[in-house]
Amino acid sequence: MRVGLVLLIAVIATTIASKKLASHHANAEQRILLVVTSHEDLGTSGKKTGYYLPEAAHPHHVFTNAGLKVDYASPKGGKSPLDPYSVQDYKDDKISVDFLNNASVQKQLSNTIKISDVNPNKYSAIFFVGGHGPMYDLPTDVAVQQLTRTFYESNKIVAAVCHGPAGLLNVRLSNGKNLIDGKRVAGYTNGEEEEGGTTSQMPFSLEDTLKRNGGLYTKVDNWQPHVVRDGNLFTGQNPASATGLAKIIVSALKKH
Ligand SMILES: *[C@@H]1O[C@H](CO)[C@@H](O)[C@H](O)[C@H]1NC(C)=O
Repeated sequence: MRVGLVLLIAVIATTIASKKLASHHANAEQRILLVVTSHEDLGTSGKKTGYYLPEAAHPHHVFTNAGLKVDYASPKGGKSPLDPYSVQDYKDDKISVDFLNNASVQKQLSNTIKISDVNPNKYSAIFFVGGHGPMYDLPTDVAVQQLTRTFYESNKIVAAVCHGPAGLLNVRLSNGKNLIDGKRVAGYTNGEEEEGGTTSQMPFSLEDTLKRNGGLYTKVDNWQPHVVRDGNLFTGQNPASATGLAKIIVSALKKH
């Protein structure tokens, strides 16, 4: 009888503890996994795409300044394509230029870890970088879905910016529900897709699909920063949201 009571209390205590964000011991090295795309063609336009430079560069800057280590993974592994338009758009942005000139970072991006080879135990958070590439390869990638579920169900941070939430669309949890179902989320808007002239090349609308799959989607004016947190799910609307998103992740990790 008494043993049963002690066990019950232990189970309740464990359940409460597991509701907190999981992270490593304070003085252990914390690592963040940035997921980038393996896809380089912008539909049938003949134009190239890939990951969007500042959406990797700005988080990398915030994370490394906070003493966190950053690794890169992609569906196919190996070299991840960089959106050439993002290089042009951010040619006057020092953080993006420094990122492009950082030899150790570029070596990592030329040799990304294949998603199916990632050991989730090494990381405190998974962060999906945007760009148009992720719209093609992330939503249907089973290894992406499984890895994201593992992070989420271990109470680790799952984050995505701009088109990065494409990687969250079809993640099913152990309870059979879609990860984003009933969760507050942000992501690239139909208006931004229109203004950027890319609507006709997209395989689907990110905004519409986030809503259709149950996401409680909010947005602000085109290109303005917008970051949303729902428990251990963190999302941002567009390139301007990448820094703010990384900062709330750092402060969530530092609370432990
Ligand atoms: C380049 O990136 C590495 C790895 O993230 C980082 O440790 C280093 O500080 C960066 N170097 C510069 C000059 O920013």
